[in-house]
Amino acid sequence: MINVQFAALPERWATYETPLRAAFAEAGLEVDLRLDHAPDEVNYVVYAPNSDLQDFTPYTRCKAVLSLWAGVEKIVSNQTLTMPLCRMVDPGLTAGMVEWVTGHVLRYHLGIDRTTHTQDRWEPVVPPLAEERPVTVLGLGALGQACASMLATLGFPVTGWSRSKKSIDGITCRHGDDGLRDALATAQIVILLLPDTPATENKLNSDTLALLPKGARIINPGRGPLIDDDALLAALDGGQIGHATLDVFRIEPLPMDHPYWAHPRVTVTPHIAAETRPLTAARVIADNIRRGEAEAPFLHQVDRTLGY
Ligand SMILES: NC(=O)c1ccc[n+]([C@@H]2O[C@H](COP(=O)([O-])OP(=O)(O)OC[C@H]3O[C@@H](n4cnc5c(N)ncnc54)[C@H](OP(=O)(O)O)[C@@H]3O)[C@@H](O)[C@H]2O)c1
Repeated sequence: MINVQFAALPERWATYETPLRAAFAEAGLEVDLRLDHAPDEVNYVVYAPNSDLQDFTPYTRCKAVLSLWAGVEKIVSNQTLTMPLCRMVDPGLTAGMVEWVTGHVLRYHLGIDRTTHTQDRWEPVVPPLAEERPVTVLGLGALGQACASMLATLGFPVTGWSRSKKSIDGITCRHGDDGLRDALATAQIVILLLPDTPATENKLNSDTLALLPKGARIINPGRGPLIDDDALLAALDGGQIGHATLDVFRIEPLPMDHPYWAHPRVTVTPHIAAETRPLTAARVIADNIRRGEAEAPFLHQVDRTLGY
């Protein structure tokens, strides 16, 4: 019997219990799934960082902590978590992110706000074709690659930027500091899908925002600290950046007195770009437990030194 502890907000248990049990059965795993195993009997923890479980020291037989969240910045700093940590790469979450990003790119590309809200006279402005609208995706991981590929399929010339060198069909791939300069130089729309790590903090700042063509649009479903907020506000006020759609913030919920709320060139969404979907995520967790039991490498294991 494999002992699995579910450690997330209590209301998540109702959402995840049935899909997890079904996925374990489907994978042929005999699992005792509970909220309350004795810590020293737990083999795997299914984990969200906002659960009460913060001290992993008593979890002496735990083979892996399996995160329900894609972003692990709140977990990697936990010094008591010394066992392998896997982040969530969920096909359902990825599909949601592709839909959200594509929708917001098309809103900018087609000028949907102008034609639906603010146009008060017959003034035909035909949008260019996608092939005339260069788009850049910062971060070419599970989510960045999926979004970049969808945008390329729609005809946008897509440049992607990552830490390590990559080659992806249909995407111009850049990496490193020089690569960032190239990736930003022509981008009319920039999408941030980087993790929150010390190396990515304030990646969009006054210097890098100045590299963009005037009037470029920013879409951030990644994490709040990727952007220097003061620099972005200054770039929006000065017209260097035409508009920003922000889903994630340094403080969430975004405080009501934050200048983003009232800014005419900012759209705020409340961290809803992509949720983990229990049905598909449960299968990913079951697959990783199956791997752990077979002593095969875990999928999506976090590199603690890189922080993602
Ligand atoms: N708003 C939401 O609802 C929501 C939902 C889910 C996730 N997210 C956010 O989306 C982020 C990305 O998720 P993911 O699953 O795609 O992550 P991932 O697979 O770990 O991909 C991260 C990408 O960022 C690149 N990267 C990391 N550090 C870098 C650096 N210093 N310079 C350049 N590139 C760097 C990586 O480069 P390499 O390929 O070279 O490693 C990789 O391409 C998550 O960390 C989370 O913060 C938000």
